[in-house]
Amino acid sequence: MTPSPVFEAGRYHFPQPAARPVIMIGSLELPSRYCLSPLAKYTNLAFRRVVRRCGGLGLGTCDLVNARALLAGSGKSLDLIRSTPDDTPFAVQIFGSDPVIMRDAAQFLQERGGMDAIDINMGCPVDHVTKSGAGASMMCNASSTVALVQTVVDAVSLPVTVKMRLGWDQHQLTAPRFAREFEQVGIKAVAIHGRTREQGFKGSVDLSGIRKVVEAVEHIPVIGNGDIRSIPDAARMFERTGCQAISIGRGALANPWIFRQLEEWELTGSYSPPGNFRQRMELVRLQFDLLNELDGERSALIAYRRTVHWYLKAMRVKASLRELVQRAQTAAEFHAAIKIIDDEGPLEGTRDGILPELQVPVPAGPVERW
Ligand SMILES: Cc1cc2nc3c(=O)[nH]c(=O)nc-3n(C[C@H](O)[C@H](O)[C@H](O)COP(=O)(O)O)c2cc1C
Repeated sequence: MTPSPVFEAGRYHFPQPAARPVIMIGSLELPSRYCLSPLAKYTNLAFRRVVRRCGGLGLGTCDLVNARALLAGSGKSLDLIRSTPDDTPFAVQIFGSDPVIMRDAAQFLQERGGMDAIDINMGCPVDHVTKSGAGASMMCNASSTVALVQTVVDAVSLPVTVKMRLGWDQHQLTAPRFAREFEQVGIKAVAIHGRTREQGFKGSVDLSGIRKVVEAVEHIPVIGNGDIRSIPDAARMFERTGCQAISIGRGALANPWIFRQLEEWELTGSYSPPGNFRQRMELVRLQFDLLNELDGERSALIAYRRTVHWYLKAMRVKASLRELVQRAQTAAEFHAAIKIIDDEGPLEGTRDGILPELQVPVPAGPVERW
């Protein structure tokens, strides 16, 4: 059984990992081996910038972008691929089943610049993506999928990576075989969510399945993904799978400081608590202000609704007060609602004190819909 962290002198203590490998994705050296997993509708530029300010992030990836729509100049797709100099290293994730469209989209991205890697989505379980032959359904068709990946790799000098699941269902656990073949055609890293498409987000992550992917490749880094919410979860992922890096999605929404904590743990064997109530409120405001600056108050209010719901729920803010934030129609109303929550203070403890109860499991709400 994995031990629990010991809290002493204001820090958590937990045995350090045995090694601290440098992660290279082709020629791209990651500043840490802790990556942000793409979360459609959440991992926008403002969120990534907030997480980067919290520290420790190795690589940020945007929400999945439809390759065809990107080439057609869709405003939504162009918004998704936006980045800023403080948002590096940064990967753009594309999806699609047509090799020519995927190749052209990759070339378009490279020419446009502003990203360090291109990631191919092969894990998306939602019907409208899989029915078009993209996302997780690519794991059912070996020869055309490997050919598509090769077409993209050969078309660009940027490193290309793949994010996939263990397979379509438990009878088709194709990830190890794909990982090996992808490496042979020039993929520079694979991220693997330890569930099948059929599982969706149910059940727990199969660490032995991720291990098989690690064992299948020769040199490229394997990024283990799924259900990491804490330092012991990350330690377990490293130990049981042998993966070199980790990516975290939902855990970063509940605790945007998790990457900093992981880096501290890896370097020192101890780590600071996540942000206290005051710092969390600062972050809630900062992310809104960044969105507002980018897109104006109307779009910012709409885009932020989902995320702020998760933040406030993780902070155990009363439903009636969360509702005030959801109803805000202007930036001024948003800030007024946040001020009421701030004035009310935390449910337990103090503004500057540790809020251990915030490390609750991430609310499940939007997950079922993805
Ligand atoms: C709301 C939501 C949106 C997601 N969007 C994407 C996406 O755009 N691209 C992708 O490859 N995976 C996507 N995923 C999957 C996550 O990247 C990740 O693989 C999965 O949530 C498991 O990791 P976690 O437990 O750390 O969240 C999404 C997951 C959720 C819950």
